[in-house]
This record gives sequence, structure tokens and C-alpha cells, in this order.
Amino acid sequence: MSLRLPTPPTTSCRLLAYASSFVGRRAKEVKRNFTSFSIPSASSSLPNANASISNGFPIPGGLEDEMVGYIFGRRKATDVAHSVWKHVVREGDTVVDATCGNGHDTLALVKLVAGESARGRVYGIDIQEDALRSTSCFLGQSLGTQEMEHVKLFPKCHTKLAEIVPEDASVRLVAFNLGYLPGGDKAITTRSETTLLALEAAGSIIKPGGLISTVVYVGHPNGREEFETVQAFASGLSTENWVCCKLQMLNRPLAPVLIFMFKR
Ligand SMILES: C[S@@+](CC[C@H](N)C(=O)[O-])C[C@H]1O[C@@H](n2cnc3c(N)ncnc32)[C@H](O)[C@@H]1O
Repeated sequence: MSLRLPTPPTTSCRLLAYASSFVGRRAKEVKRNFTSFSIPSASSSLPNANASISNGFPIPGGLEDEMVGYIFGRRKATDVAHSVWKHVVREGDTVVDATCGNGHDTLALVKLVAGESARGRVYGIDIQEDALRSTSCFLGQSLGTQEMEHVKLFPKCHTKLAEIVPEDASVRLVAFNLGYLPGGDKAITTRSETTLLALEAAGSIIKPGGLISTVVYVGHPNGREEFETVQAFASGLSTENWVCCKLQMLNRPLAPVLIFMFKR
């Protein structure tokens, strides 16, 4: 079952108005950044003027800035994740947000896949209907009608993600932002067992050149175990087919950890 969009304005929508206007501005920045570099593909080796070269590998200006910001404690893990996505996702792609929450990641993904062709799709999943209402409301305030057509929301467990995405779709990105819903019930968190099944499902639908992106929060009761599960899953992927890495703050043990799994 997919959720219809957009949701009519509600009290919670109004409560989110301030946050949305902020993210609306952020979304414009995202779009600006996105259009400021071209995504290198296997067939294109020419970085644009804004890209710098590191060991022959073009890095989009946005990613380099976010990484430097992260290293110096000025940027959040999610900012780095969004920047990495820009390096992988192209207009017209199919992507999955496996934990929609309040919709910030979903919005960033819509901005990346939406375009003239109307082909791009974001399949958004969350186990809590409240979270999807919040996402729907937030997207309704941040996107135009046409951009909204790129999103489908599903109130389900992300272990079902391969059943939600059409069989013939080749998926460029599956994003997980684990933990609990900010502003919601902190007792409802993602869990190691279901996260592992969802990661396996993601691995089965990601196409070569695609990415599984995870932001893992270790501060909640199941967080440490979940982090170890995600880390073990990524560490066990074959080096022939996958490039996996982790970004972790060393002197802030509760800071979220980024784990990326890139399929060659
Ligand atoms: C940290 S929040 C996600 C934040 C969100 N991506 C954003 O940008 O606002 C984690 C979300 O995972 C959801 N969740 C927990 N278990 C889940 C499951 N098994 N399947 C899908 N979503 C789940 C929670 O309901 C919560 O909304």
C-alpha cells in the first residue's frame, strides 16, 4: 500500500512550517550545489571546473567541502551522506529511502532524481505512519506538484523493500538513517535483526555503480549492537564487487557513524 501525497495541511504540518522553510532554503542550496558539478560516469572522464582532482579521481566540489567541514566538526554526518549521494545519483534514477522519518533525506533524494523526464522515483519506507505523515507534510511544503509525483511512500518494515520497488527497476541508492524518529517515540527504533535483513535486501537490488548508505546512531539502547551488525555486514561484502568504508568520530563515542557500501 502506498500513501497518497500530498497530505492536506494539519496541525503538525503547521508546527513543521518553520523547519520546512529552513529546509526549503537548504533544498535550494542542495539544488544549486547539485547543478554546480557534473556527475562523472564510466564514460565521462572530464571533471567540470568546480571539481578538484585527487589521485586522478574527480571529487565534486560539494563533497570536498562537506568532508572538510565534517573533519573540523562543522558539518553533520547527514550532510556528508547527502553530498556522497550527489556523487552517485543521477536525474531519472530509482532510489529508496528505507527510513523516511521526518523526510529530510527523502527531500534530498527527490531533488537528485527529479527532472524533465519524470522518470526518477524515490520509494520511501517507514514502519511508523506518523513518520510518513510527517514526511508527506514536509515534502508537500518543500516541493512543487510535479516533484511530488516522483515520491511514493510505504508504511512498512524496510525488510520488505525489495517487494516495494518494481522488479524491473534498477536501484541506484538505498539510504538508511537508523535509530528513532526525532520528535517521536524514542522506544521505536530500528533493530539489528530487521536492519540486517533490509541490508541484505538492499544488496540484492542495488545495481553496479550504486550505493547503500547508512547513518548509524550508537546512542540509543540497541544502537551499539546495530552498529556492529551494519559494520559486520559491510566488512563481509566481497572486495571483488563492493567498496565499503566507515567514517567515525574517535573522541565522540556517541556521534553517528557513516558506513557506505558502493557496488562496483
Ligand atoms: C532517524 S529516523 C530517520 C530520519 C529521516 N531519514 C529524516 O531524514 O528525517 C529513523 C526512522 O526509522 C524508522 N524505522 C524504525 N524501524 C523501521 C523498520 N523496521 N522499517 C522501516 N523504518 C523503520 C523509524 O520509525 C524512524 O522514523
